[in-house]
Amino acid sequence: MPKRKHLVAPSVLSADFAHLYDDVAMVNQSEADWFHVDIMDGVFVPNISFGFPVLASIAHYAKKPLDVHLMIVDPDRYLEQFQAIGADNITVHAEACTHLNRTVQSIRELGCTAGVAINPATPVSHLHEIVEDVDVVLLMSVNPGFGGQKFIESTYRKIRELRDLATGRNDNLLIEIDGGVSSHNALALLKAGADVLVAGNSIFSDKNPTHAIAELKRMAPDVISV
Ligand code: DX5
Ligand code: ZN
Repeated sequence: MPKRKHLVAPSVLSADFAHLYDDVAMVNQSEADWFHVDIMDGVFVPNISFGFPVLASIAHYAKKPLDVHLMIVDPDRYLEQFQAIGADNITVHAEACTHLNRTVQSIRELGCTAGVAINPATPVSHLHEIVEDVDVVLLMSVNPGFGGQKFIESTYRKIRELRDLATGRNDNLLIEIDGGVSSHNALALLKAGADVLVAGNSIFSDKNPTHAIAELKRMAPDVISV
């Protein structure tokens, strides 16, 4: 059984877009592992974030892997463009893909790692036929579309269910938690079996974001057991 990872991915959605370079530089110099970048189309979710030009600017300065979370309908249309712009991991929503297996294969053929996200109301059982074929499963712990929302507690049960589902079939699967993550629940999430903690508001609204990232990284990884 591989030792669980303990990665922190600041969500750029909560950055100051007027000073985006400064926030990218802060993440570069911090203990963070990935940049989490949310792309929203105003159709799959009731919000529009930003598109290719902003992502390209982030990619230009980012010195850590880009974890691109697509909250868009019909993501197949844009996978190549996201890869070309510098995405390392591309995560699509199961609810947005008619042929999820094909979409995941396409992501891997582009040379990226592939993630599948599910909304809070989508059961883990929905992943039964895809769990072996993905690198990352992103469990939404808020309803997608906005930063700064309240964490949904049933996520803990979903993490445990997903870890059970993946054990023996995809032991290297990374379980990523997105929404309402802070130093208050990080340790419990890691103990439940999470590998990647996405955090927007709790990092960027802190008066010392570098310190907030360090706090999330410091969460006693040695006590993690699955
Ligand atoms: C929400 C996004 C998240 C968001 C998390 O739809 O997928 O990545 O930025 O923000 P916080 O950590 O503020 O809940
Ligand atoms: Zn996200």
